[in-house]
Amino acid sequence: MVFSLSSIVRPNILALTPYRCARDDYDTGILLDANENSFGPATKFEFNSDANLQLERYPDPHQTELKKLLKDFRNVPSTDCFFVGVGSDESIDLAIRVFCQPARDKILICPPTYGMYSVCANINDIGIVKVPLDVSEGKFSIVPSEIKKALAADKTIKVVFLCSPGNPTGTVLREDDIKEVLEFEEYAGVVLVDEAYVDFCKSPSSIASWVEKYPNLIVIQTLSKSFGLAGIRVGIAISSPDIAAIFNNTKAPYNVSTLASRVAISALQKPGIEKMADNLQNIWRQRDVLISALKTFPRVGAILGGNDANFVMAQLVNSKGEPDNDFAFAVYRRLAESEGVVVRFRGSELGCKGCLRISVGTDQETLILLQKLKFLLT
Ligand SMILES: Cc1ncc(COP(=O)(O)O)c(C=O)c1O
Repeated sequence: MVFSLSSIVRPNILALTPYRCARDDYDTGILLDANENSFGPATKFEFNSDANLQLERYPDPHQTELKKLLKDFRNVPSTDCFFVGVGSDESIDLAIRVFCQPARDKILICPPTYGMYSVCANINDIGIVKVPLDVSEGKFSIVPSEIKKALAADKTIKVVFLCSPGNPTGTVLREDDIKEVLEFEEYAGVVLVDEAYVDFCKSPSSIASWVEKYPNLIVIQTLSKSFGLAGIRVGIAISSPDIAAIFNNTKAPYNVSTLASRVAISALQKPGIEKMADNLQNIWRQRDVLISALKTFPRVGAILGGNDANFVMAQLVNSKGEPDNDFAFAVYRRLAESEGVVVRFRGSELGCKGCLRISVGTDQETLILLQKLKFLLT
């Protein structure tokens, strides 16, 4: 028998368009493309030979110590409400695997939104129903009436993904809109609210404590953004204890490494939380600097969205003042290839014509970016 790889790989995997990482195009220079935390990690954790990490042993499969710290930090009633995963990407994948039957069920997403929801659905052979955000005037709010219509029409939808603050929109969703979806009586599936950027909102916006009231709610968060720990890959899902138990039973037993767990535990101690809060102040300050300066450039038409995250969306316009993808893409390439600053082109996303998504950098990074942009945009 001749071995033919393509005849044994699942057709949905063969057809897969993989997630396009920010670093796939450019990976050197000032990196303002992946919404990381330029101000650095919230912990100075250093490994030393006295640390007795017991690396010859498997890590704690339950992440008990880490969950205790997370429970206190996030004000959630019990450690039983937590799942700890390899980034929040693991929670996205688990939610789909746990609730959706391959080749039958669907998820609902609200574009423009985070790309991994669709990639995970495709990997798991799950359909995707799209109910776009209201993108008029850069509002980027969900439209509960349309979501409810889609849910009522298709009982195979099992997970609704809402992103708040959204990526790439930077806009926190209205609580009443989320409640309307959670309370929709004709829907028997779960609502997953992705709060990867929630700490960057100036007024407290997490709805994690709602899991006490809503058994159909999953909130996912991450240490990758506000805590500046994208490299350790630790994310969490908060839900009813029943859902958390199912997630914990489904994951690989030792999904989070001892090293990652130790760093996360260190970041969630008082000094780590203080450093994170300090970094937030810096990011808010630089976000304001960035927005104010961008607004003065004639070829920036609007700053779209709510600016509730650690990035901004600048809409570039042509000489007639119209949003212009060709111009934005040329600026993006020029910045990366000649000026050593990498941002993300987002002009192909719904409601984001002409947009560059720019992560907030350090004072120095922002200064350099603005100098380069001033040169390209005036
Ligand atoms: C909205 C959103 N959710 C989740 C993630 C994934 O984060 P993590 O590093 O926790 O996997 C990202 C990463 O950029 C994101 O933008």
